[in-house]
Amino acid sequence: MEQFSVIRRRSALADLRDAGWLRHIDWQPEVDSTNNLAKQWYLANPSEVPALFVADQQTAGRGRSGNQWWSPSGCLMMSLVIPLTELPTELSIHPQLSLVSGVAVARAVDTLLGVENASHSEFYSQLKWPNDVYVGGKKVAGILIEAVQSRSQATGFAIGIGINAQINWPDAPVQLLEKATCLSSMAGRPIYCEEVLLEVVENLQAQLADWRADADCWMNEWRECCLLTDRVVHVRSAESGEVIGLCQGIDSQGRLRLRTESHTFSLNACEIVSWS
Ligand code: BTN
Repeated sequence: MEQFSVIRRRSALADLRDAGWLRHIDWQPEVDSTNNLAKQWYLANPSEVPALFVADQQTAGRGRSGNQWWSPSGCLMMSLVIPLTELPTELSIHPQLSLVSGVAVARAVDTLLGVENASHSEFYSQLKWPNDVYVGGKKVAGILIEAVQSRSQATGFAIGIGINAQINWPDAPVQLLEKATCLSSMAGRPIYCEEVLLEVVENLQAQLADWRADADCWMNEWRECCLLTDRVVHVRSAESGEVIGLCQGIDSQGRLRLRTESHTFSLNACEIVSWS
């Protein structure tokens, strides 16, 4: 690693330690998946959380719905593992962690792109349900939440986040070129993983604290950022099969609202196949 990279990394790690929230931080050159490390850590060290795992590369990065996550250097790949005490006490709303995390990452992206206060910027980030972060119509970040199970009960959650900070696009699989972007391309300046990491951790910590104090704190912001509202979307779900409908945003539980010719309903778990 070149000298400036070493300094940048040391400085970021020192800032995270000084902030005092994380009980353990581990940055590895290569792992299979940071979510695996995070979950294994929690099971072996249940009192040493929140803990943060970062990797320069992943050999088996996972996305939602069983997808792979292309994991080159220049993509920030991190997993934060948190105990239930970081979440609101009401267990029934814990599935909303997925959307709450999306708001935190979207805020971080807006800060990094310098658009937090611009209400109609084309670089304003948007959330594709449940938590993909888009900028300028292309995906810049994805989030995979996995429960840490002990004796078949969730004792905590791993929040796995992949954010394209600075990607060397000629290396990318061709199918990503049309659909994905990175922060440095949007900002027109180098944006390093360390800078992104600090912003994301700070926003996640703040968002979780706000959520514990007010269970609905994230909803207005999520709705304002919704990429799919008023668009025609094609979804696939185990409950309803293939459905095409007009997206009405989210309901009070964070489920996707769809209107078809015959009725309006909410979907808990579904894959967004396409939208227009
Ligand atoms: C998605 O968009 O489908 C979610 C992608 C989540 C990718 C991140 S990279 C860090 C963490 N480790 C993984 O294996 N996946 C998540």
